Amino acid sequence: MSEIARLEALEILDSRGNPTLAVTATLSNGIAATAKVPSGASTGRREAVELRDGDRSRYGGKGVLKAKRHVEGAIQSALCGFDANDQKGLDKTLCALDGTSNKGRLGANAILGVSLAVAHAAAKDHGRPLYATLVDKPANLLPTPGLNVLNGGKHADSNVDFQEFMISPVGLPSFREALRASAEVFHALQTVLHKRGYGTGVGDEGGFAPQLKSNEEPVELILEAIQKAGYKPGKDIVIMLDPAASEFFDEGSYVFAKSDKSKKAPAEMIALWKSWLKKYPEIWSLEDGMAEDDHQGWQSITKELGNQIQLVGDDNFVTNPEIFREGIKNGIANAILIKLNQIGTVTETLDCIQMARANGYGAVVSHRSGETDDTSIADLAVAAGMGQIKTGSACRGERIAKYNRLLEIERELGPKARYAGASIFERWKRPVKA
Ligand code: PGA
Ligand code: ZN
Repeated sequence: MSEIARLEALEILDSRGNPTLAVTATLSNGIAATAKVPSGASTGRREAVELRDGDRSRYGGKGVLKAKRHVEGAIQSALCGFDANDQKGLDKTLCALDGTSNKGRLGANAILGVSLAVAHAAAKDHGRPLYATLVDKPANLLPTPGLNVLNGGKHADSNVDFQEFMISPVGLPSFREALRASAEVFHALQTVLHKRGYGTGVGDEGGFAPQLKSNEEPVELILEAIQKAGYKPGKDIVIMLDPAASEFFDEGSYVFAKSDKSKKAPAEMIALWKSWLKKYPEIWSLEDGMAEDDHQGWQSITKELGNQIQLVGDDNFVTNPEIFREGIKNGIANAILIKLNQIGTVTETLDCIQMARANGYGAVVSHRSGETDDTSIADLAVAAGMGQIKTGSACRGERIAKYNRLLEIERELGPKARYAGASIFERWKRPVKA
């Protein structure tokens, strides 16, 4: 049995230049591993609390020295000598030590850093990769990626209200080939944008963030880029959207402040999505198409469109098993977005994935808009075996690190490796354009 001997935290920077934590767990046999904590911008209201110092003389109040002290103080004291292989027991102890329902006392950033660093250390201790130790039955399914190639909303300074326009290479035979095709489309998109005189600077997740004229224009440009790269939209490569609707929901209406300044009632918002699905059969997945506080809207869209398309809940479920259970009961969405730092422990994250599987929901493992070079989510996506990941565009080191890790895992699995491809979307049978 290897025990936890030491926990250290370092205040580092994330991809936006904001402070976050790197936590190193050292075991009694000297084995050590580090995990780095991500950070969101379009956060769900009920996410676990990311503890920030609030001292405006440092990083505008965003420092994480309090969280660092919690790791090295209270958490280290409680966990010194704890069995590093007992992830469930460890995470339960962390939750109990915090004592709040939202991890607001010690901070979800402190707690996740520890939970994940110990998971890594335990894997290392066994001489096995993380994807093989996170779950009892190691999976061999490489996830179909969703690459966010055009950024809008809160992730870009543009006229687009919707946050993420992703390409998903469902029709390629392997992860390796899927990533290649995606990078080719990304580069084709750059040419398409250039040709129209648009800027090709990138947003937080590595997608282009040009000053486009409407919310629909990104879809048109992506379809053009897919074809230009030599692929068939709706067959080889499909589109996934994350408008992050909570960000433009105000007093019961959806307000398009960045594009045409229109205001839509929930029923009109659903009608808009319906028209988009009809016009663009290449769209296979819609995340946060309704706002987290619009329960009725969510129920209606699930009833009306849930048999046509994957509807992913992110801001509304916040990777919280209790909240997710309630959502399932209320007929909301048919898939969940999985973000470790929304809930703060490895165990609760795996619980959500298990709950999704048991209830016929999809599960998409996800990065945050503020990331580091940590690649844990690549391993988590393979361990989860649910066949989906979204971790940004084919650009920016912190996004590419995850894709590159998946390439390594694919090689390591060898002939056993399977690529999820279109299999996860089979139940929806989106129409194919002639
Ligand atoms: P966030 O964005 O990390 O800023 O929350 C990602 C998402 O909404 O899926
Ligand atoms: Zn989202």
